[in-house]
Amino acid sequence: MDIKRVMVVGAGQMGSGIAQVCAMNGYEVILHDLKEEFVQKGIEGIKKQLEKQVKKERISEADMDRFLRQVHLSTDLNNASDVDLVIEAAVENMEVKKNVFKQLDAICPEHTILATNTSSLPITEIGAETNRPSKVIGMHFMNPVPVMKLVEIIRGLATDQEVYDAIRTMSENLKKTPVEVQDFPGFVSNRILMPMINEAIYTVYEGVASPKDVDEVMKLGMNHPMGPLTLADFIGLDTCLYIMETLHEGFGDDKYRPCPLLRKYVKAGWLGKKTGRGFYEYS
Ligand code: CAA
Repeated sequence: MDIKRVMVVGAGQMGSGIAQVCAMNGYEVILHDLKEEFVQKGIEGIKKQLEKQVKKERISEADMDRFLRQVHLSTDLNNASDVDLVIEAAVENMEVKKNVFKQLDAICPEHTILATNTSSLPITEIGAETNRPSKVIGMHFMNPVPVMKLVEIIRGLATDQEVYDAIRTMSENLKKTPVEVQDFPGFVSNRILMPMINEAIYTVYEGVASPKDVDEVMKLGMNHPMGPLTLADFIGLDTCLYIMETLHEGFGDDKYRPCPLLRKYVKAGWLGKKTGRGFYEYS
């Protein structure tokens, strides 16, 4: 299974980061989203990141131009008709993902692997929407993708060993460290991270401390690079809520109950950094 051409579906924070890392490591990438303005925003983000690398003299201008030439933009999913791998990084919503996978299954050649960057949803259920569950797999990158070393690789019940091996090799080619995880809600990363963030929100909700002080405790006391509430704003509070709901529903245990304050913020449209307001304000 030789992976050369990749489509990344979704040009947001995660998708554009994945496309950047693929291009920087020799893959031809198609960056796809529903609207031209979304793909433009994605490629501008990649350009900005690469320009920073040039300034730091880590890559040359010629490298930057070459990487950018390797990223092709798309608003037509039919462009997936000649790729070896699709990495789906659309919004974290089961119905959206099922719909995308159904369409990709019809468009892509038989050999194409369909991977999802879902952070918590069952790979087996997504695979069952297609006629190729043996070629469906989870490939979960962390944010910011160019910086974070981890890729969680999640096999669905039907995923072939050679598909797993191909994705593991590709992750290593992207200079990431793959970790194999079984298909349970939240995998490992978000099963541990999100309850911590949710608990941090409860401490604010119950008046134990202010957001700034909660973050200070975790940064200075536990050496976390970001406090949990800063991190929640960075991930997106809508995503945090969706993952908590997936854990709550998947395990049926009250310990995963989303904090009412998290629900309130999401209802208010305070989704964190991307909307300018979450636990903190951003200009
Ligand atoms: N994109 C690309 N690169 C970025 C970046 C971004 N958004 N933000 C920072 N960087 C780079 C900087 O350019 C810098 O690179 P160099 O060292 O090569 O110069 C490096 O990261 C460090 O940046 P800073 O010195 O500006 O800031 P920092 O030391 O605070 O690091 C951070 C920034 C790496 C984001 C750090 O705060 C961190 O590790 N935070 C926690 C991130 C985390 O937990 N991610 C997981 C989120 S959960 C997830 O992704 C899973 C999910 O499903 C929800």
